[in-house]
Amino acid sequence: MKLRLSKRALKEDFQSSFVKIMLEVAAKGDLISFAGGLPNPESFPVEDIKAAANKVLETKGAYSLQYNSTDGYEPLREFIANRYRNQGIDIESKDILMTNGSQQALDIISSCLIDPDDDILVEDPSYLAALQSFHLYNPNIHTVNLNEDGIDAEAFRDAVNKHNHKFFYSVPNFQNPTGITYTNAVREKIADIIKGKDTFFIEDNPYGELRFKGEHQKSMGIYLGEQAILLGTFSKTVAPGMRLGWIACREKELYTKMKDYKQLIDLHTGTFSQLVVSQYLEDNDYDSHIKKIIDLYGKLCGYMLEAMDKYLPDDMHWNRPEGGMFIWAKLPNGIDAVELSRKAADDGIAIAAGEPFYEAKRGLGTFRLNYTNSKPEDIDKGISILAKVIEKMRK
Ligand SMILES: Cc1ncc(COP(=O)(O)O)c(C=O)c1O
Repeated sequence: MKLRLSKRALKEDFQSSFVKIMLEVAAKGDLISFAGGLPNPESFPVEDIKAAANKVLETKGAYSLQYNSTDGYEPLREFIANRYRNQGIDIESKDILMTNGSQQALDIISSCLIDPDDDILVEDPSYLAALQSFHLYNPNIHTVNLNEDGIDAEAFRDAVNKHNHKFFYSVPNFQNPTGITYTNAVREKIADIIKGKDTFFIEDNPYGELRFKGEHQKSMGIYLGEQAILLGTFSKTVAPGMRLGWIACREKELYTKMKDYKQLIDLHTGTFSQLVVSQYLEDNDYDSHIKKIIDLYGKLCGYMLEAMDKYLPDDMHWNRPEGGMFIWAKLPNGIDAVELSRKAADDGIAIAAGEPFYEAKRGLGTFRLNYTNSKPEDIDKGISILAKVIEKMRK
């Protein structure tokens, strides 16, 4: 038969060139990989999840295996809402829509807010899979540059004055890919700029709890009320395989539309995983679990920075994140990071070249390093090999 795919399926964004390169690289086998964004499996609370799963099956067996409501399991939504309230954000369980990871939240939001040629605004660079998800709905994507302390507030003001964006998509804590965190001063400025406009501020926050240094910064939900849509996930603090994320949305009409759309696409998020995680959270001290992850990632980040200081050339730059999972590096002038990623893979090291994270396809000399899923000895070895590849490319 002749396969007649939809235009959407044929769009390049269905599988990015980045993913293709990553698959090519992975196919080489035995690699030290700093390219992905995987949590460290050591951080998964396997025994506690096992106990929670057993308890759920014993006490709510049939219920946990049945269909459930689209908005999600109430005790879990209340747990999440309560954590927001502890940060001073006035959110109730009725504002929480459980999703299959925050990745699904991006599609739900796009579907409910974006018509073709609508204007939306993103950070440059931005989370690649969010860009791909937005692209499927054919918006005009505008960008604002990121500085060390967050987005450039003046550029943000200009952008917001120029177009009536449906939303601004942001990862203000330990951003993917750059590891950058907006300071409270930047948050206040951009809140002032956007407040009262018909533009939602989407705060995607998978990494905010993973701070190993410095001071926690405030959520945009504090400044912007129902204009802020907050995305969260248990992927980085419990386990990504549970596929549990959420949207906190206080704009009632939008909440209802998103819930209706979710019902159309998958009825609801898995009952069993919601109940197991809810039981796990009830029976364990979540904050002390997160503290263990933070200690592990703080150490691994320290090892990577130490190796970078030791091996990489003086004319390279990188940031020193205070949390999250990534370091962002800039190569000496004239060295292309895509080329570097291919050459490094030949020598057994995988990195993520920066280019695909830029909507405007700039940033040829940048790359992202993930430190959370490598052994300390591999971090040292991997960075020393990477340094040699860079020196070879200079010649
Ligand atoms: C910024 C950002 N948003 C969303 C996600 C998706 O996470 P999940 O669907 O596992 O919740 C990720 C995953 O790495 C991410 O980095």
